[in-house]
Amino acid sequence: MNYQAMYDESIDNKEQFWAAQAGHLKWKRQPTTILNSDNDGYAQWYADGMLNMSYLCLDAHVEAGNGMKPAIYYESAATGTSSVITYKQLLDSVAHFAAGMRNLGVGEGSTVIIYMPMIPQAVIAMLACARIGAIHSVVFGGFAPHELAMRIDDAKPKLIISASYGIEFGKKIPYKELVDAALKEAKHKPDYQIYYRREKGFDSLGGRNELDFEALMKCGTVGCKDVPSQHPLYILYTSGTTGTPKGIVRDTGGYATALKFSMSNFYGVQPGEVFFAASDIGWVVGHSYIVYGPLLHGCATVLFEGKPVKMPDAGTFWRIVEKRKVNHMFTAPTAIRAIRKEDPDGTLMKQYNTESLKQLFLAGERCDTATWEWIGHKLGKPVIDHWWQTESGWPMLGLMTRFEEQIPKPGSAGRAVCGYDIRVLDEDGNEVLNGTEGYIAIKLPMPPGCLTSLWKNEIRFWKGYLEKFPGYYLTGDGGYKDDDGYFYITGRIDDVINVSGHRLSTGEMEELVAMHKGVAECAVVGIADELRGQRPIALIVLKDGYMAQETDIETELVALIREKIGAVAFFRNAVIVKRLPKTRSGKILRKTICQIADGKAYTTPSTIEDPAVLNEIYEALRQREQGMAFVTEKAA
Ligand code: COA
Ligand code: AMP
Repeated sequence: MNYQAMYDESIDNKEQFWAAQAGHLKWKRQPTTILNSDNDGYAQWYADGMLNMSYLCLDAHVEAGNGMKPAIYYESAATGTSSVITYKQLLDSVAHFAAGMRNLGVGEGSTVIIYMPMIPQAVIAMLACARIGAIHSVVFGGFAPHELAMRIDDAKPKLIISASYGIEFGKKIPYKELVDAALKEAKHKPDYQIYYRREKGFDSLGGRNELDFEALMKCGTVGCKDVPSQHPLYILYTSGTTGTPKGIVRDTGGYATALKFSMSNFYGVQPGEVFFAASDIGWVVGHSYIVYGPLLHGCATVLFEGKPVKMPDAGTFWRIVEKRKVNHMFTAPTAIRAIRKEDPDGTLMKQYNTESLKQLFLAGERCDTATWEWIGHKLGKPVIDHWWQTESGWPMLGLMTRFEEQIPKPGSAGRAVCGYDIRVLDEDGNEVLNGTEGYIAIKLPMPPGCLTSLWKNEIRFWKGYLEKFPGYYLTGDGGYKDDDGYFYITGRIDDVINVSGHRLSTGEMEELVAMHKGVAECAVVGIADELRGQRPIALIVLKDGYMAQETDIETELVALIREKIGAVAFFRNAVIVKRLPKTRSGKILRKTICQIADGKAYTTPSTIEDPAVLNEIYEALRQREQGMAFVTEKAA
């Protein structure tokens, strides 16, 4: 079958198509009801199906005689260690840890927060939750205690699972201290905190509710609890327009079906092959393609703890490819840009045998053509940009490698993936002509695997995604389609930015900056950054009479964002301006600020209150650029 026939089938004959895909999984009870829709036309998949994700990822492979095959290649550039964990060993650990959690009263529907570095115990904890029907919520380890506290208060976990420390470029991240700080701030108090001790001598587990990860594994084993297809497998918080993160809820049956389908048909992976997604389990890529996708499909997944550069060098990825004979790789363009900066001629890359690699997938942010061309040329393998988001859980645009070979043109994120009826709409919800930019929306129903709601917040779910264009899901991205059906993503249409592949909310940063005693009003926008894709800067208007040096207030704001969100926000600049450009109705013209900051040509919006302010902004930014240099390098 070719791509077009397969795609058309997925749209025109949805139920039949997705019933067939569900048939590739070992359900406890095979679904007979394939698709239901709620009042807004929002899909619920496989309503009467029953299954267990941990069973599909582990037990099913062991039962099929593949227990001795590698499930995880743990490659820690951070500690200079590596190990292999077979399916049988992983199942054993998961069954033990799940029993330990169950002894603590965790069961079907309980929520558990996992705040851990990239170590196998994090994967064990995720799969153990799935085993007993508990709902995990993994929080990215780079987030500060305040972010963790917000997630604790929203998810109300029974347990927090963490580790003694993480490692970032040789510096230790004190997870236990960060959890303690978050718990001080959070209103909700989990029953227990569980810590994995990475080395002997970490014995600060003194609190009444603090337990040792390994001690918990001494309570026997437990089997799988089958759950209905709609049962939430996890909540994954992501950034939205405001400071409060959105808890994306993922179901079990639809997600398992979509991941299995994507492994075979999108990524073109065979069971038993080696899949290396160089992301973090705190992000959706980590959930879908470090943990669940590869394990469902019987692959060996590479769990990589480290950075693509400097740990020890920019050959790290290729060293792992050679050592583990990686067949398929996935990373963010920012990682490739970092490698290119350190190894522009590919000298380090050439030291390793990368023959096993069939293709490299890029996602998480827009991939610039120069980076795409560089890596394609150096690696000599197909480089496939593809587009998706936390909400979708799996690719929406790209190249379905099982059916098509023609790599999309540079700058394009590809064609619609099976199941996604993607449209470009204008402000009134009408489809625009090809080549015209608009809102990227998906005609309902969404295929299996996409978010089912926001955690305990149906109203925000509806308002954020379904209200603007009835009958469509709003992706939050803008872009256009060409005559051949290839889409081009031009960027977010909301207050979300992508810094080093990390999705962050400028709205949240703005709320924090506005709390500073000297700030009358402010705008935080994302500007272009050579390495990181984007990074945030603040434009601030000082309160009347508030006297401060720009450098002082900037230092305070940098510290504030670091403390509240984390170093990953890469917030480095606050520029004082006399006023902000606004529409006559008082809306800040953020897009125009971005254009000015990025040195792009801009047209004066017709709605602007006073056009003279644009020149002031231009001068303030340019002066700043010359005087102190907009730092694109890491600050000392
Ligand atoms: N835990 C704690 N801190 C973290 C962290 C984590 N998991 N990840 C990043 N940070 C910190 C860094 O240590 C750094 O702190 P510093 O300012 O005190 O030095 C800060 O956050 C900024 O980090 P980052 O933006 O990552 O810059 P970097 O120079 O450390 O690394 C890259 C640059 C490009 C190598 C790195 O961002 C990278 O590997 N990006 C790929 C991301 C990715 O795979 N995303 C997944 C999307 S699919
Ligand atoms: P996240 O939810 O963190 O995965 O971030 C999703 C957002 O990242 C999308 O809505 C896009 O704005 C952006 N994004 C992801 N992949 C791509 C891509 N291939 N091209 C352009 N933007 C992308």
